[in-house]
Amino acid sequence: MISMKAFSSCEREGLYKAIFLRRDIRSNFINKEIPNEVLARILNAAHHAPSVGFSQPWNFVLIKDSSARQHVKDSFLKERERSISMLNGDKTKQKKYISLRLEGIMESAINICVTYDSTRFGPFVLGRTSIGETGLYSVCCAIQNLWLAARAEGIGVGWVSILSNEDLHEILLIPKHIRPVAYLCLGYVSEFSSKPDLEKEGWLSRMKLNEVICYERWGIHKCDSWAQFNDTIEQIKD
Ligand SMILES: Cc1cc2nc3c(=O)[nH]c(=O)nc-3n(C[C@H](O)[C@H](O)[C@H](O)COP(=O)(O)O)c2cc1C
Repeated sequence: MISMKAFSSCEREGLYKAIFLRRDIRSNFINKEIPNEVLARILNAAHHAPSVGFSQPWNFVLIKDSSARQHVKDSFLKERERSISMLNGDKTKQKKYISLRLEGIMESAINICVTYDSTRFGPFVLGRTSIGETGLYSVCCAIQNLWLAARAEGIGVGWVSILSNEDLHEILLIPKHIRPVAYLCLGYVSEFSSKPDLEKEGWLSRMKLNEVICYERWGIHKCDSWAQFNDTIEQIKD
């Protein structure tokens, strides 16, 4: 039973541990089924995400069938070729891109397509009247819950976005008004790396926290009234 009181320091550490040790996983999947109750807990965590107007606009299509997965993999390969040709003007980057492992569709235990239904409890959705994308943001909150819960269960998740949504509609028989948001590959893994693969491969590295924080107005990264906080931020290690 979860206590309704404040988090103990141990519980708090557990949450941060899931956040900092979560990784996008494309390789190192091992051949082990995810027990039903574990998968159910992960999906229930996703289903408890915040959503605009409590609209809960997500669905989770669970895919084990290898022929459907092979079709999704074909879509990935096609879209990957398109991405490679976009880098024709930068041969070094193109070579690097080609060397990257960017999906684990066939090797993972299960694939999950997370979708967005803009019609759910609509057309008037409380809070979505000014910023239409808030429905999509809600689905992304569910995906992040899923990703963190999976990490806490020792399960890796890889998000594959090098795909055609049109192909996903066709392969998974998704109705026209439903939008695929994420195609995820889940499975137990032999290891979770401490750094993102793209960082290890030299593609990009994590920005410093103070580079992404502005004080009071856009673009202001230092100001007197925030000086002490700024010092604190600068002491934070990766
Ligand atoms: C919307 C979204 C789409 C992504 N698509 C892909 C993808 O197609 N292939 C891939 O290898 N990683 C994909 N990723 C994972 C990112 O590359 C990864 O999150 C990032 O490099 C940081 O690594 P980390 O998640 O391990 O911290 C995606 C992540 C997000 C949030």
